[in-house]
Order: sequence, then structure tokens, then C-alpha cells
Amino acid sequence: MQLRDGRVAVIRPAELSDARQLQAVNAAIVRADRGVVMEVSEIRPTDHWRAHIARFLHPGDLLLVAEVDGVVVGSLDIERIPVDSLYHNAELSMGVTPTHQGLGLGRALVDAGLEWSIDHEIGRLELYCLADNHRALALYESVGFVRAYLRKAFVRRRDGRVVDDWYMEWTHG
Ligand SMILES: CC(C)(COP(=O)(O)OP(=O)(O)OC[C@H]1O[C@@H](n2cnc3c(N)ncnc32)[C@H](O)[C@@H]1OP(=O)(O)O)[C@@H](O)C(=O)NCCC(=O)NCCS
Repeated sequence: MQLRDGRVAVIRPAELSDARQLQAVNAAIVRADRGVVMEVSEIRPTDHWRAHIARFLHPGDLLLVAEVDGVVVGSLDIERIPVDSLYHNAELSMGVTPTHQGLGLGRALVDAGLEWSIDHEIGRLELYCLADNHRALALYESVGFVRAYLRKAFVRRRDGRVVDDWYMEWTHG
């Protein structure tokens, strides 16, 4: 797909060899301190991301990465509830590294994730989104997620900030 700045992005399933770059994406998002709950001291090492990717190396769940100029700059995952009667439910999470936000990657990732969900008989997706994360809220609502309920004062930052959090859902079929 073509980005707003003219560059080309590739969206593809993650591979174990992406672990280091996925770690860097996540660390940069946490350091930017917008849209995520984790603190800098909680940034996870590459081994965590290798194990994370390994969890998705089967056809039931999805972990996509977005690559620009050969570098991973974003990801989206969709993880089902591994119980037969709940297998049509999954949780979505995603992130784009701060230097590449606003270029269309988030929309491309979420569009690809929803298309995969429809093809793989996922009837219900859920996610959590901080109430002050207006960019993500706008993106999710534009593709059909609705705000189901607000978890008041869900996050308490070390610096004293208190933030509400939306539980959102998307349903299909
Ligand atoms: C939220 C996030 C995934 C969006 O990715 P992105 O690549 O920046 O998004 P896009 O450039 O594709 O823009 C998608 C939509 O976001 C919204 N958006 C983008 N930039 C915006 C801005 N500056 N202000 C408000 N909304 C904005 C718009 O609705 C936009 O729709 P458009 O395609 O019609 O312009 C990304 O900003 C991110 O990773 N943020 C930090 C981590 C995070 O918030 N993850 C989600 C946790 S729930």
C-alpha cells in the first residue's frame, strides 16, 4: 500500500526474525507516552517479543507487521479466546511507531485485520482504548467499533494522572 508521504508499506504476517524490530516499535511507542498504559520501566526485552510472535504462528490467530523501507514500523494482533464456544471472539491490539504515525498505516493494518476476521469467522472483536487517545478512538469508530462502556479512572500513572478507558466492540454476522 502507498503511504501519505508516497512511500510504500508492506503488510505481512510476523516472523520470528521480526522480534528485535517489534521490540523497538513497542519501546518507541511506550517512550512517546501516548496511547499506552505501560511505563518506560516496563518496556519488554526482545525475548518477550519472540515468544509473543511464536504464540501467533498458527492459523487461528493473526499477527501482522507493517514494513517500510525494510523496517518493521507497526503491528496488529488479533487473538481468539481459546475455548470452543467462545472461539468467535477475539481481542485486537495495535500500534505504529511514532515517526510513522499519521501516514495511513494504522488504517491499513486495521482494514487488513477486519478483512481477516471476516474470512476467519470471527463474529466479535473487542479492545481497550484510553479515553484520551482520540486518534485511536476515531480510527476504531470509523471502521465500526462502538464504545460499549467506560472504565472510570482505570489507569493511575506514576505522575498522578488518572485516565478513563473505553471497552469497545465490533461485531459481524
Ligand atoms: C492509533 C494508531 C494505531 C493509529 O495509527 P496511524 O498510523 O497513526 O493512523 P492513520 O495514519 O492510519 O490514521 C487513521 C485515523 O486515525 C485518526 N487520526 C490520525 N491522525 C490523527 C490526528 N492527528 N488527530 C486525530 N485523529 C487522527 C483519523 O481518524 C485517521 O483517519 P483517516 O485515515 O481518515 O485520516 C497510532 O497512532 C498508534 O500506534 N498510537 C500509539 C499506540 C496506540 O494508541 N495504540 C492503540 C491502543 S488502543
